[in-house]
This record gives sequence, C-alpha cells and structure tokens, in this order.
Amino acid sequence: MTRKKFTLLDVQARKEQGQPIVMITAYDYPSALLADRAEIDIILVGDSLGMVVLGLETTVPVTMEEMLHHCRAVARGASYAFLIGDMPFLSYQVSTAEAVRNAGRFLKESGMDSVKLEGGREMAPTVAAIVAAGIPVMGHIGLTPQSVSRLGGYRVQGRTSQAALRLVDDALALQESGCFALVLEAIPAPVAETISSMLHIPTIGIGAGADCDGQVLVYHDVLGMFDRFTPTFVKQYANLNEQILEAFSAFREDVAQHRFPASEHVYHLDDAELADFRRQLENREHLVRSE
Ligand code: KIV
Repeated sequence: MTRKKFTLLDVQARKEQGQPIVMITAYDYPSALLADRAEIDIILVGDSLGMVVLGLETTVPVTMEEMLHHCRAVARGASYAFLIGDMPFLSYQVSTAEAVRNAGRFLKESGMDSVKLEGGREMAPTVAAIVAAGIPVMGHIGLTPQSVSRLGGYRVQGRTSQAALRLVDDALALQESGCFALVLEAIPAPVAETISSMLHIPTIGIGAGADCDGQVLVYHDVLGMFDRFTPTFVKQYANLNEQILEAFSAFREDVAQHRFPASEHVYHLDDAELADFRRQLENREHLVRSE
C-alpha cells in the first residue's frame, strides 16, 4: 500500500475517530527519515533543539535562523509526516506583523506545513492573524519552556483549581482563534482530560496523561540520548547513549591496537599494477640518485 502524506484533514479526522495522533520531535535529515519510516504522523522541529542538539541551558536563546536551518534538513528527510516548525522566543511576541512574517518563513523557506507557538489567551490575536494569512497554527499551553523564567522553573502547571480553570480558558481561546491542535505540557491528567473533551480540535499531550488525543515526546528522550535530566513523563525506548559510547570506545581501541582498518576496509591494487608501480618508482629513484 502506498503511503500518503499526513495532512491537516487527517489530524482532525483522528480526533473525530478517536484514534491517537503520534508526534515526535526531529531536528535533522537522518532523524526525519527514520521518524517517517516508522510512520510517525507528525514531526515537530521543536525549539527543544536548543537544549538537546545545541547544548544550551534553555530554549530561550534559539533563533529563527537556527530553526529554519534545522527545519530545512527535516523537510528533506520526511515525505509522509505532517511537519510543524516551532516559533522561537521573540519571533512572535513583539508584533503581529512580525509574527505573521516569521511564521510565513517556516513555510516559504524551510518546507514546513505549519507552525507552533507557546502561550494562552494573550496569544489569540496573534494566532488569528497567522491563521488568516493561511498558515496553520498549533498552540502550546501548560508548561511553556520559553517562559521558564516567569514560571520559576520547569514545573507542573494547573495544580490549583484556579490555575486549572485558566488553562481551560486558554485552550478555548486558542481554539476560537483558529488553532488546529494544542500541545498540553506538564499538566495534571484530569485537567488535560477535561480540556480534551471540551475541545473539538485535538490535544497532543506531553506529561498530560493518557486522555489527550495524541502524544508527543522529544526524539533524544525516546532514544536515551539526553541525560542532563529526564522528566517523569518520559518513556525511554532505547539507550543509544550507551550504545554510541560503546561503539566510539571500540573504534578508539581498534585504532590504538592496529586492528582497524583490516584488509576488508582497504582498497587493494592489482598485483601486476603494483609490481609495475614499484619498478617505475625504483627507476625514478635510480635517476634521482644518479643526478
Ligand atoms: O520544543 C519542543 O520539543 C516542544 C515539545 C516538547 C512539544 O515544544
């Protein structure tokens, strides 16, 4: 069966059919190829790349140019998944015009199908303007890492009844402004379940329990490739850090012990050519010596 591109219509259809949406982050060509081959529905080029790929402390310093660079690589690797480019901090907060222009760059210059931005009801006019320009927008509420300083750290959101009600209002405002889906990050499962059942657009959870319409995890967390910290909600499906470390150590040891390269890794020369090469070299040396 030939696979067809996962589109915005499929995202909405999954909600209506009650079939979970599977989303993962990816940041380059090989990771996009593999996510696509595994039939992941949505690839998010998250600004989490600042932490897991660029080694930054937070996502705050990530720039538009860095995002577009990684989005282009992902777009070259993925032909099936729906692609979302994450708008970095201050690329959409300063003015609506700047937000629309920057959102447009994800589609025009880097092959994304849509964008994601963080924030609640205060972002509704911005979302509406981007959507009016023909660009699909995914919202993101709960723990919004770009606001880590204001939130006082990476902590679970919506833990009091008042905070939970604010999340409900944010979700409704973002839906009303035209978001096609919402990420719910690090919020209590009953709050996420309530929001998911109230909305007609899908919710994609990360640390928000099993009742969201889909789930997203960060590529490096799924594969065990980021060990600075591991949030409670992460399920590791592999421990590639360990495997990569073993492979690098084995390579170093093979070179040090003259075990690599072995005969099968070497380009050989035909016996007759080798003999001729040596003979000619010898003649040349003979000439040099007699000069
Ligand atoms: O940047 C990112 O990877 C994200 C996901 C965690 C949703 O925003």
